[in-house]
Formats: sequence, structure tokens, C-alpha cells
Amino acid sequence: MYLNLFLTLSAIFVCDAKLPRLRQHTEPNEVADTLKQNLQVAQRLQIEVKSEKTSRIVNQYRARHRRDVFDSKSYESGLTWAHSERLDGIGDVVLRWVNSESSITFRLEAKTRGYVGLGFNSARNMRGADLVVAWVDDRNGNAQVLDCHGPEYDDLAVADEVQNYELISGYQNETHTTVEFRRQLDTCDKQDFVIGEDTVQLLWALGPEGSDGELPKHVKSGSKALRLLQPVAKPQVPLKSWDVRLNNLTIPNNMATLFWCKIFRAPELSKKHHIVGYQPIIDSRPIKNKRVLEKDSSSPVHHMVLYECAEDPDKQLWNEWSEGDGFFGPNRPSQWATCVTPIAAWAIGSKGEYLPENVGIPLGEKGGVSYYMLEVHYDNKALHEVLDSSGIRVHYTPVLRAHDAALLGAGVGVSALHVIPPKQREYRTVGICSPECTENTLPDHGINIVSVLLHAHGIARKISLKHIRGTQELPKISEENSYDVHYQQSRIVPGGRRFMKGDTLITECTYDSTSRDKPILGGYSASQEMCLSFVLYYPRTQLAGCYSMTPVKEFFETFGVKEFYGLSMMQVENIFLSSGNLENLPPQLEFDMQKKYSEETAVQGDDQGVGLMKELVIREPSEFRNKTFMAHLNEMPWSEPLLTEQIEKTLYKGMHMTFCKKRDDTWGAPIQIQSYPTYKELESNVTTDNSCHYKSVRLPSVTKGNGSSTITLNVATILAVCAAILISR
Ligand SMILES: *[C@@H]1O[C@H](CO)[C@@H](O)[C@H](O)[C@H]1NC(C)=O
Ligand SMILES: *[C@@H]1O[C@H](CO)[C@@H](O)[C@H](O)[C@H]1NC(C)=O
Ligand SMILES: *[C@@H]1O[C@H](CO)[C@@H](O)[C@H](O)[C@H]1NC(C)=O
Ligand SMILES: *[C@@H]1O[C@H](CO)[C@@H](O)[C@H](O)[C@H]1NC(C)=O
Ligand SMILES: *[C@@H]1O[C@H](CO)[C@@H](O)[C@H](O)[C@H]1NC(C)=O
Repeated sequence: MYLNLFLTLSAIFVCDAKLPRLRQHTEPNEVADTLKQNLQVAQRLQIEVKSEKTSRIVNQYRARHRRDVFDSKSYESGLTWAHSERLDGIGDVVLRWVNSESSITFRLEAKTRGYVGLGFNSARNMRGADLVVAWVDDRNGNAQVLDCHGPEYDDLAVADEVQNYELISGYQNETHTTVEFRRQLDTCDKQDFVIGEDTVQLLWALGPEGSDGELPKHVKSGSKALRLLQPVAKPQVPLKSWDVRLNNLTIPNNMATLFWCKIFRAPELSKKHHIVGYQPIIDSRPIKNKRVLEKDSSSPVHHMVLYECAEDPDKQLWNEWSEGDGFFGPNRPSQWATCVTPIAAWAIGSKGEYLPENVGIPLGEKGGVSYYMLEVHYDNKALHEVLDSSGIRVHYTPVLRAHDAALLGAGVGVSALHVIPPKQREYRTVGICSPECTENTLPDHGINIVSVLLHAHGIARKISLKHIRGTQELPKISEENSYDVHYQQSRIVPGGRRFMKGDTLITECTYDSTSRDKPILGGYSASQEMCLSFVLYYPRTQLAGCYSMTPVKEFFETFGVKEFYGLSMMQVENIFLSSGNLENLPPQLEFDMQKKYSEETAVQGDDQGVGLMKELVIREPSEFRNKTFMAHLNEMPWSEPLLTEQIEKTLYKGMHMTFCKKRDDTWGAPIQIQSYPTYKELESNVTTDNSCHYKSVRLPSVTKGNGSSTITLNVATILAVCAAILISR
């Protein structure tokens, strides 16, 4: 990925200003004439010797903009920045921003005396990206911003026809260039990115010393995924914290995937408190004297979930567990299956969360001891040997919030039956939370959904949480159309959402598996897939988890398999139901195969049935006879669109086996096989172009000082800059 990133970004910000085409209808004639002249000048100059014309144009340009006195600091906006991020992770490139309903203002502080470039895209490259380049002229201290874009099929930057960035201020000191600029969230310019609720890949690049107005190849670049419009939630009151972490667990270097569980005793509190947030504690130390792949020194911790356990009278047993080291996931004591209510769900890329100000998750409300289970998933593909003391820092407060909240897990049950064929550009899967489940477990007035964490792995591109009432779809509760597994934060549901008894919740994931040659199976490992949503809601109910998966018989039939040697479909189904996170089954579903199977998975790690897929040998139909199911799956003609469309449709719109798990580890509704609900889809009312009239360079000034207009770009000067850039290449 990094190589790829480097390659694609290496071409960034060469600002190959292919000369902008004119858009007479949007510009006053006078300006258009200037544009034309500039265009002609630039075109004529193209023929001349490069170096000569470069310096001449640049000098002309500089002379035109020289000012005798330039107190750049007076142009600073003085805004209060709601957000601040180190784009490079170490602080050489810091982006601060604040947005209003319609516009967003950035402050970019970069350790460079050359140019600094910022890009917005849905992918981690500059194809089709919206790019903005800024610099401060070394001679006169004038700052400039230039609106560019990356063409769809080429890794270069081209100046936009319409400039939509307004420079507010810019200056440089001995080490840094600092610029402030502003734009509309939706500029109504096809060459700009619409900044919305989805995750944005922020690309950045730093030019070499003195690269002002000429844009040679950058010296440093990178990208970071962010949601720019995410509201900030930080509690004001002082908080207490409780560290829930492992204690020097040795992660062996021969396991690519591992999950570990440990019980914790909550701090003893005399009254109810509220958990209002959490942060990850990542503490993974390579074991000395062992060869460590230096390249990848990152922690193998991939995700962590903290669960509340149901009350159990046998406190002594739980106390002993809370003092122990914990257990390898599949080997944990069966009583731990009562730890099903998620409290905090962290995944790689998240800095943690603070809950919205009206809700808190109760802690210590029983006025005594209560127990929690931390589940840590390691993705140790680099096969490091590490000592790990990672976990979660839980923030809580005695100042109670208005509502007791809880988390509900929903989506596709994690199992190998969640198959995504390779070579698919958009392949969708769904997990259903059934109306029977919500009917049986929710209060009469329903619940209020506050926020949602959407979770899947590397090939997921979109995740949405749909809401069905009766036969009518309601607006989506949450959606991410540009999912990045390296950036996971909860999404506030604006205004909240009332979810009633008997409503259906559907988590839909869309995957892009074009980079894969073999089918991807569901599982916890980073190379496997998931499709989950963690829903934060109030008031608290008994419902803790609500999932679905394809029934086993239908699943295998979809892939053309009727019968295996040695095991009936019913037996295979029981194995699937008794592994993975659906393990807490009623006794009648348990049978001795489960024991044998869980011992095997203990050796292989936690595989949610992948091992079984490799062992099932097909008996019927005869054309696949004696092949393992996995071999059959791998050999299917996945590039046949008719085949994959049929499979997608059958698994999506076909039968679903639904699970409804309560906090006390009982079932809120029986396991059921049901068909996909029939409902009237919500018509997505397409935003008409009527609302889009913003096309000019100028925005109302937000500058504190009075001088902003003097450094606001006009189109003619931009063209001059573009010409200079063109020529300097
Ligand atoms: C230069 O500017 C940067 C960014 O504003 C700031 O962090 C740094 O301290 C400044 N350095 C000096 C020497 O003023
Ligand atoms: C883990 O072990 C190291 C020494 O090997 C020690 O410094 C550290 O405190 C231990 N961590 C915990 C959480 O006990
Ligand atoms: C399948 O395997 C069985 C025994 O393992 C063998 O008797 C049979 O001939 C094989 N069938 C095919 C089609 O290869
Ligand atoms: C979209 O449709 C819903 C109901 O159908 C309506 O309430 C809403 O105002 C519409 N939004 C726009 C932007 O037209
Ligand atoms: C800006 O202009 C207003 C009046 O137009 C004046 O009162 C104020 O002092 C000016 N501020 C600066 C920083 O020049």
C-alpha cells in the first residue's frame, strides 16, 4: 500500500497546468478577455526555451505582486479551530479546520519553505482528487493558493477552470509555511470534491525549499483518512478513568490471528456512575533477541471490544478469573459466554470516542461488584513476537447524564459463510435484525438511536444501516460511502432516530474485491471480512446482539453443493452455529462434533469455520465429487458476471437465519429462518442542481484584519501562476 501510495503521490502537485479551458458564461467579459490574453501569452511561451521563459514569467508575476510592507500575521483569521490533526502522524503537517453549514476553513501548518499541497479524494490516490496547492513567495512573503484537480486517468494535477479556494492568510518563518484558506463544502464545481459526511482521504505533499510558484516534485507526501464534518464531543467535567488492559501477554510469532479474552472487575463504586468515553491503550513491545521485521513495527492489535457480563452468583470464580491472565479466545470458560453486551468497541484507526452529552453507559449501578470481559484481536501477519499490554481506558463520571445508554451489535454473524467472491467491483451482503427480535425486546415507546459505529474490513467500500418500519423503508440511520478500515469513528445520527418495536434493522456492506483472486470468507482476521454495526441507543433494553447469516443448506446450494461425505447439512449447520461469535447456543444445538471442532480451531486460531470449509468433501453433485468445498469455491468461474450476480442476489434477497441475543445470554426470539423482508425502498430524492449556484472565486471574507481583499486571488493572476508552472516543468 505504501509503495502504491508513493507511486501515485509521487506525481502529485507537479501541477501540470494543462491550460484551463474557458468558461465564458461564468466570468465577466472583461476577465474573460484577460484570460484569453493570458492564454495566448502562455501558449506562445510554450514554444520558447524552457528556462528563459520560466524565469521571465515568474519574475513578471512576482513584480506584479510585490508589496513593500507585508505584515502577514495581521491576516490571520483568529478563528477557533474545532479540529486539529497531524496528517503525517508526527506533526510536520498539521491541519486545523472549522466548518459552518455551507463552508469550511482550513489552517495548514507545514514544515516546508516550499509549497504545501492538500488533496481530497475518496481513494488514497490523486486520480480524480480535488487538490489545492499553497505557498509563500520567499521574495515578498505573498501567499497564494491554487485550486487544482487530478484527472480521472492520470496521476497529475491540473489547474481548475474555476478557483474555489479563498486565501485568508499565509506566511512563513524559518521552518514552516502556514496558510489559511476557505471553500464551500459543495462548490458546485465538478472539478472539486464535495465535502460531506463520508470519510475523505486527505492527501498531502511538501515541496522542496524555495518551490514557490514553480512546483517541482514533492519531497514528502502521504495521506490520512478523516471525516471532516464530524461533530466534536468532549465532556467538560473532570473524568475518572479505569484502565482495562492485558498484562504482558506474549503474542507468539507463529499465529497470524489470535484473540484473547480476559475478565476484569469494575472499580468498586458506591453509586451509579456513567461511562462517557474511552480511549485505546496500545502497548505492544517486540520481544528482544528475536528477529523483528523492522519495516512493520506497528502493533498487531487490530480491534478490541469490552463487554459487560451478566450477573452470576458465583463471585469467587469470577474474582479468580479477574486476577488471572485470561484465555485464548476459543478456550475461554463457558460462563464467559454471558459477557455479551458491548460497552466499547475500538478498531484500528480510532482514537477512541466520547459519547454524546445526553447519554452515558451505567457503571457500578448494582452498587457492588460487576465483571467485564475484554476481547483483544491481534492481526499478526508480520509474525512478530511481542509482549502486549494493550487495552481500553474507560472514562467515567459521577455526574450522571440524562439517559442510560447501551450498545447493540447488529449485522452479519461472523462466520466463514459470509463469502465475498473475488474480482467484484461492488458486491453487497446484508445482516438483518428481525422484527420479531425488536418486537420482543424493545419497550413500547421504542428506543432512541444516538450514534453508530460501522465496522468491516479491508475490501469494504460502503456500509449503511437501513431502517424498515412495516413495509416502508425510512431514511438510512447511518451510512458511509467511502469506508476506510484504517479510520473508524462512530457516526452521530443527527437529531437521533426513534426506533420502534417491530422495526427491522438492516446492515448492508458493499465490497470491492477486484484486488483478490480468491473468495474472501468472513472472520476476525484482517484478511477476512465482517459487516457489523454497533448501535448506541437509550433507554437501555435487554437486547445485546441481533445478527443474521445465510442458513447452511441454502448457502451450500447457492454454490451448487448438495451433499458432503460424512456430515449431513444439519450437522454442518450445527458446527457453524456453535463456532464464532454465535457460540452461545441452546443446549439442543450442541453436539459432540462441536468439541472436536473447537479443539481443532484452538490449534489454528480463531477461524469461524474456515477450517471446516477446507475439510468438507463434496459427494453431490457428481461433477464436484471428492473436492473439498474450499477447492470448489476457489475454482468457481468468478469472472462470470451472471454467476456472481446470481449468487449475490440469492444470498442477499434469499433466506436469512436470524439471532436475537439478550444481555443475560438468553434468546430474545427463537433462531428463525426467514426471507428478506419485502418493503418499499425509500426513493432517494436526488439533489437538484438548482441548489448549486456557487461558482465564483470570492467568498465573504472571514479575515479579522481588513487587508484580506488585497491578497485574494483573481482569475488572471491564477492563470499567470499556472503558466509559470507549466513552463517550469
Ligand atoms: C514557525 O511556524 C510554526 C507553525 O506556525 C510554529 O510551530 C513554529 O514554532 C514557528 N517557528 C518559529 C521559529 O517561529
Ligand atoms: C511488562 O513487563 C515489563 C518488563 O518486562 C514491565 O516494565 C511492565 O511494567 C510490565 N507491564 C505490566 C502492565 O505489568
Ligand atoms: C471419490 O473418492 C472415493 C473414495 O475416496 C472413490 O471411491 C471414488 O471413486 C472417487 N470418485 C471420483 C469421481 O473421483
Ligand atoms: C426528500 O424526501 C423526503 C420525503 O420523501 C422529504 O421530506 C425531504 O424534504 C426531501 N428532501 C429533499 C432535499 O428534497
Ligand atoms: C478595520 O476597519 C475598521 C473600519 O472599517 C477599523 O475600525 C478597524 O480598526 C480596522 N482594523 C484593522 C486591523 O485595521
